[in-house]
Amino acid sequence: MTEMISVPNTTTATKAVPALPDAQIVTQVKHYTDRLFSFRCTRPASMRFRSGEFVMIGLMGDPNPETGKVKPLLRAYSIASPNWDEELEFYSIKVPDGPLTSRLQHINVGDEIILRPKPVGTLVHDALRPGKRLWFFATGTGFAPFASLLREPQTYEDYDEMIITHTCREVGELTYGHDLIEGLKTDELLNEVIGDGFWKKIKYYPTTTREHSPKMGRITDLMRSGAAFADLGVSVLNPDTDRAMICGNLAFNIELKAMLEEYGLIEGANSNPQHYVVEKAFLD
Ligand SMILES: Cc1cc2nc3c(=O)[nH]c(=O)nc-3n(C[C@H](O)[C@H](O)[C@H](O)COP(=O)(O)OP(=O)(O)OC[C@H]3O[C@@H](n4cnc5c(N)ncnc54)[C@H](O)[C@@H]3O)c2cc1C
Ligand SMILES: NC(=O)c1ccc[n+]([C@@H]2O[C@H](COP(=O)([O-])OP(=O)(O)OC[C@H]3O[C@@H](n4cnc5c(N)ncnc54)[C@H](OP(=O)(O)O)[C@@H]3O)[C@@H](O)[C@H]2O)c1
Repeated sequence: MTEMISVPNTTTATKAVPALPDAQIVTQVKHYTDRLFSFRCTRPASMRFRSGEFVMIGLMGDPNPETGKVKPLLRAYSIASPNWDEELEFYSIKVPDGPLTSRLQHINVGDEIILRPKPVGTLVHDALRPGKRLWFFATGTGFAPFASLLREPQTYEDYDEMIITHTCREVGELTYGHDLIEGLKTDELLNEVIGDGFWKKIKYYPTTTREHSPKMGRITDLMRSGAAFADLGVSVLNPDTDRAMICGNLAFNIELKAMLEEYGLIEGANSNPQHYVVEKAFLD
């Protein structure tokens, strides 16, 4: 039997095209700014993943003008929900002329997306050696894998303290992360598993670079000057106690990676757990 998948269309009603077995249904969409939105969708019953991993998601592409054939248009996306959630959540950019997100930004509840259920990635607990403090360093949508890990009970079981830094250009780009961290305070599962003091382990350090906010500047500069450590009331990173995950734009990843190496931290991987791990938030 041939299934059908509907392709969202920005101007007219949905158009039916041949379906793939990997279609999932959108269950919630939230827009934060004209460049950022999040959405939730159904999760394949058999899909297992480790909090922090990414998958390929997308929509059917436009028909080839010569052959009429349609192919899936897929991109890597960090899963923003934790592995125990019965649905999947994603936090997305809207690139105005981006092949996928110029259309994905128009999805509605009930629409279908394609999801390849083969999660991979390095921003996972397995890639880090045991430690006391865990740092999450994000720019922009690089917050997505940390939205997963922050809702993962293991994070609170494995570490005494979590420090989350998020650098964005504008204040509105911090809303998703801010709301998520506020929501942890009333998260029933985390309260049940860890106890009601778990969220007190969290230090959140949002900064902006191009719009005024209470704390301005790139996290790298704020660490270099010592301001970030002074503001947070914590010591500088030390390989004996600190573990870190980095997810941002390429320049940020490279700069922060070099800084962590200067503190003596060593990069880890699934096959070789060490002090920190890094993943690109998007391809430049
Ligand atoms: C491992 C990995 C995980 C990713 N996870 C996410 C995620 O959770 N959320 C998400 O929105 N994107 C994520 N991306 C980026 C995503 O794969 C797409 O690039 C993005 O959805 C845009 O797709 P597009 O086809 O519209 O444009 P593309 O042709 O893919 O990108 C066009 C240009 O837009 C810029 N761009 C792309 N993605 C971003 C972004 N996220 N933030 C800022 N600028 C960007 C880049 O300059 C890029 O060259 C991830 C990428 C990788 C490699
Ligand atoms: N965000 C917007 O409002 C906006 C609007 C229109 C178009 N765009 C385009 O969209 C793309 C992505 O924009 P984005 O804002 O999502 O992501 P981005 O360019 O990756 O910037 C996200 C944050 O990372 C900071 N950053 C960049 N390099 C860094 C480094 N080496 N060390 C520490 N911090 C660093 C930026 O600070 P700085 O501000 O100091 O660079 C910014 O605060 C860009 O190509 C941009 O031209 C963005």
